Amino acid sequence: MKINAPKGTRDILPDEASAWQWLEQTFADVCHLHAYQEIRVPTFEQTDLFQRGVGDTTDVVQKEMYTFDDKGGRSMTLRPEGTAGVVRSYLENGMASWPSPVRLFYNITAFRYENVQKGRYREFHQFGCEAFSAAGPEIDAELISLVDLFFKRLGLSQTSLQINSIGCPVCRTAYHEQLRTWLRPRVASLCPTCQGRFEKNPLRILDCKEDRCQQVTAEAPLLIDHLCADCHDHFEQLKSELTLLELPFRVNPRIVRGLDYYTRTVFEFVSDHVGTQGTICGGGRYDGLIETMGGPATPGIGFALGVERLLMELQAQGVDLPSPERPELYLAAAGSAGPQVRRLAGRLRQAGIRTETDMTGRSLKAQIKYAARRDIRFLLVIGDDELASGSAQLRRLKDGSETGVALDDLSQLIEQTQHDRQEA
Ligand code: HAM
Repeated sequence: MKINAPKGTRDILPDEASAWQWLEQTFADVCHLHAYQEIRVPTFEQTDLFQRGVGDTTDVVQKEMYTFDDKGGRSMTLRPEGTAGVVRSYLENGMASWPSPVRLFYNITAFRYENVQKGRYREFHQFGCEAFSAAGPEIDAELISLVDLFFKRLGLSQTSLQINSIGCPVCRTAYHEQLRTWLRPRVASLCPTCQGRFEKNPLRILDCKEDRCQQVTAEAPLLIDHLCADCHDHFEQLKSELTLLELPFRVNPRIVRGLDYYTRTVFEFVSDHVGTQGTICGGGRYDGLIETMGGPATPGIGFALGVERLLMELQAQGVDLPSPERPELYLAAAGSAGPQVRRLAGRLRQAGIRTETDMTGRSLKAQIKYAARRDIRFLLVIGDDELASGSAQLRRLKDGSETGVALDDLSQLIEQTQHDRQEA
């Protein structure tokens, strides 16, 4: 029986991999520019971590986790996101005693048992950042500007920044009561999922994508109008700080985010295109999370962006993606020149020239055809005559132009291929 990749996973084939490498490198560069350092945490963690960290009432924990018992009978879960694991690591490694703020970034795979559709997978990739121990809105804005610079460096436009505040436990609890009172006579008109949210997490009803829920809640009271004084000030200062950094934004009072740990600032970068899953990047502040996980009260903020969605968006916007790295030089062997050609290939690789030579016993004609088909830039045919004379013709396959090169002096070969690399 044929075995296929599991539903909701995808292979990243070599043609696409160079675009991924470019994204990864650009993200790391932009993080370093903002003093974020990379952290790598395990792919699976104890299930309790996500139940406590992400929150028992979230769809992610209730429906979407890949949870299994290991052979020792311990319940483990493939991470559905990065924040909980990074917070666990922060506590376990005593990062509270590091110079603050501690700024970390990551590049991870995450796993959610979702209904698969375009831009929604069961295994997907996230780039993310988390910053600990800075409570003010300045770091919220700095983090948002990091995402903005990343997008700029990629040549991505047409994404808009939307921000909101979902308050703190004090103002949110008071608002929940108000919202429930307003919703109570309308509950029957909500979708079944939102009816279930009414008691536990009524705020989530406001960002339900179902038409009927959007209609019912169109006039609902909004948390942004009921923030406590401290949360209100934080949000006002965030807006000023974004303006100072020249980052255009829109306040969207309906952004709630799907995970339980958020407090105050929440934000999303949303694609202006239709047809893709709109939210490329989401994040926010989580000032209570570290305490929930057993640590001292420590403010935190972070975001994650979906790399598959980012790539879809780059393609939709027609951004040129890097093409795969191909060998620059093909050494074709004729007659009995095979061993000498393989030795030369080794020396060229040591000098940094991407070099390929035949490994399958092909005829000279087939080797030349192969080099042309693989889009290799230069061809050097070496046979008994070339070995005897110590020179050969370096052919540029694009235009057929030829230059004579000495085989015992690699500098000419290196110069030619390097020159062409710069031009490419
Ligand atoms: P999230 O909103 O659940 O937040 O995910 C962040 C991003 O990951 C989404 O905006 C989306 O681009 C991508 N994503 C989520 N689920 C999928 C999926 N099934 N398939 C493809 N892409 C997906 C978090 O994960 C938080 N940990 C973000 C954060 C960090 N907040 C604070 N720190």
